Amino acid sequence: MPAVVLVGAQWGDEGKGKITDFLAEDADCVVRYQGGSNAGHTVELANEKFMLHLIPSGILHAEKLCVIGNGVVVDLGKVIDEIEGLQRRGIDTSNLRISSRASVVMPYHKKIDEIEDRTKKIGTTKRGIGPTYADKISRVGFRICDLLHEESFQKKFAEEVECKNRLLEAVYGEPGFDAKEMQEQLMAQIGILKKYIADTAYLVHNSLRAGKNVLFEGAQGTLLDIDHGTYPYVTSSYPTAGGACIGSGIGPTEIGKVIGVAKAYTTRVGEGPFPTELVDATGELLRERGAEFGTTTGRPRRCGWLDAVILRYAARINGLTDLAITKLDVLDNFATLKICVAYRYQGELVYEFPDNIHVLEGCVPEYIEMPGWNQDISQITEYGDLPLEAQAYIAKIEELSGVKHSMVAVGPKRSQTIVSNRLF
Ligand code: GDP
Ligand code: IMO
Ligand code: MG
Repeated sequence: MPAVVLVGAQWGDEGKGKITDFLAEDADCVVRYQGGSNAGHTVELANEKFMLHLIPSGILHAEKLCVIGNGVVVDLGKVIDEIEGLQRRGIDTSNLRISSRASVVMPYHKKIDEIEDRTKKIGTTKRGIGPTYADKISRVGFRICDLLHEESFQKKFAEEVECKNRLLEAVYGEPGFDAKEMQEQLMAQIGILKKYIADTAYLVHNSLRAGKNVLFEGAQGTLLDIDHGTYPYVTSSYPTAGGACIGSGIGPTEIGKVIGVAKAYTTRVGEGPFPTELVDATGELLRERGAEFGTTTGRPRRCGWLDAVILRYAARINGLTDLAITKLDVLDNFATLKICVAYRYQGELVYEFPDNIHVLEGCVPEYIEMPGWNQDISQITEYGDLPLEAQAYIAKIEELSGVKHSMVAVGPKRSQTIVSNRLF
């Protein structure tokens, strides 16, 4: 099956960048389908570390077609910075393609995001994600193809900036933007990016028709999905597997496998309920051992035990066929590990992930305990060489989620990846 969708099974930062980079070796094309520069995907090679926000994590392999799909919201300045940053480090970006149908993040979107989060307190990344998607759905946004037609763009853009300035000045008491200045900057940016712009849905379609291996790299995670996540503490796109079709322009019949990337414990960055969160020394230890600080914003991530209610939910919502379990090495020094198998809400056991965050806030985890392995597993390359306690922990995750693992990561580097079942 040539099309594989990779999604985050928790609240993001599961190690999608690392797993995408690993799988990209056998892929011909890697596609980002949603989100924007709110994503921070880390890839560690032997002696180098890369942080990718908009460009697919396949870019570190030569000659892979790397696509920023129509479902992504693109900050033109940020993508230029990222391209130039990679080029300075000797990475070839000539195989990057950006969808002409992708939405553009405008400076006013970032400003509105920053202002609104002061009161809404979602804890957004302030990258303009929510306001850009809101404008897209309201049909007042701008797509990359609009910027390629300056004359028709100019009038609509001037009107829209005026409208946004009224909001900024009259409602928020903040200074507005100069439309002409902003347009000049956008035109300069689109001039730089022109050679990368394409009808990417057509390119991906052709890759699939030619029998090539296509990997869809989700950003964020299942619980940050606008429909299926912990609304309103979510992002504004569809990080779940269905989003891959809409955000890239391929049909669901193309998808053969869906791999869920899940950390061996749970983290969340930003506000919102998190049943297994540990606000004690154990949580601190997870943060310290897992280096749990945001790739995009540097914020400390909230940490807690693995939540199997979430994994079962992610398996169902995404139709997961495989799991990649990451950061197992972070649990090396724990004598006992806990896994949440259900919630208790007002005395009743709850097995399905609640729809309402107020219910979720009242959910208390029901844990089982598993023995730890108390040894360094970071250099192990074969599944059978993992300590039996670690194998039992993985087997328990499979049993509770109903999904078999295909990969286990025991460190951030490419070499620290155990493959039990090949995806391509
Ligand atoms: P993403 O947003 O899902 O791509 O994840 P991030 O890159 O934001 O965060 C994952 C972090 O964990 C990064 O710093 C990775 O280098 C690191 N990482 C990934 N897999 C492993 C692993 O198996 N073990 C350890 N110790 N670190 C890992
Ligand atoms: P990757 O792809 C973790 C969170 C923010 C906030 C909420 C809404 O690296 O896993 P937004 O700026 O999207 O409007 O913020 O979503 N968030 C992420 N959390 N990983 C991410 O991306 C995230 N992208 C957004 O912290 O709670
Ligand atoms: Mg991240």
